Amino acid sequence: MTGPDTTDYLLDNSAPEAEGRFAALSAVFDPVTERHLDALGLPPAGRFWEVGAGGSTVPIMLADRAGATGHVVATDIDVDRVRGDLPATVEVRRHDVASEEPPGGDFDLVHARLVLVHVPDRDEALRRMIAALRPGGRLLVEDFDVALQPRACLDPQRPSEHRANRIRAGFVELLARRGADLEYGRKLPRLLRGAGLCEVTADAVFPVAHPGAAALEIANVMQVREGLIAHGYASVEEIDAHLGEMGSGRIDIVTPPLVSASGRLPETV
Ligand SMILES: C[S@@+](CC[C@H](N)C(=O)[O-])C[C@H]1O[C@@H](n2cnc3c(N)ncnc32)[C@H](O)[C@@H]1O
Repeated sequence: MTGPDTTDYLLDNSAPEAEGRFAALSAVFDPVTERHLDALGLPPAGRFWEVGAGGSTVPIMLADRAGATGHVVATDIDVDRVRGDLPATVEVRRHDVASEEPPGGDFDLVHARLVLVHVPDRDEALRRMIAALRPGGRLLVEDFDVALQPRACLDPQRPSEHRANRIRAGFVELLARRGADLEYGRKLPRLLRGAGLCEVTADAVFPVAHPGAAALEIANVMQVREGLIAHGYASVEEIDAHLGEMGSGRIDIVTPPLVSASGRLPETV
């Protein structure tokens, strides 16, 4: 593997496949995020910052918890898909978490799901997110640990399942070329503690058979198909056959484990 060839985000939101990716991420991981948010015991009328929102389901989830007098700031480098029937309490802003000042401060919660793993300057991004918390505020970061479980098919038996694993390996290489940290998920508890947060907890989940995981695979592979072909990870024919198989429902496709880690900024720092 070579070093990063660009800092551009591989799966940019302007591609037509982004809509399908956000729907799939929502189907697979929104229940996980909801469970963690509920465990945090967020205050009513809270101030919440959703970093790298992508679509609108998590901002809406946060707005439900903030209530009519709360405030949610949803940011992303590309906010075109943070849309739909957003409550009036949700403010949408274009914002780069690694290089721009936080969109306000004194947040009761800062949350990012599947964002920092892609951001080359993720240490700086995490520092900015923590700096935006009020004393006692909560941070919830959810990110893949791709290296912990890199397969697309856990139990490959048929040629199409081995092909799925080869294509996933190519996709992972493309992510790494753009500066993704393939071992980021496992580092989160250590990083949160090292940043001075207390009450740090973390767990990891991944679907073993879930239709949303196949939908996510279709969106991702369609979006990066030219890169997979150009770097010799798969041929046109292999990608077309793989996408056909994904849509067939005959194959159990998995995602990497999603590590959800949370911590609290001490009242006095
Ligand atoms: C894989 S998507 C995840 C979207 C959403 N958080 C979710 O879990 O469904 C990654 C998101 O991070 C955004 N992103 C990437 N780099 C960013 C940066 N430096 N600052 C803010 N957002 C960023 C992308 O535009 C994209 O919307």
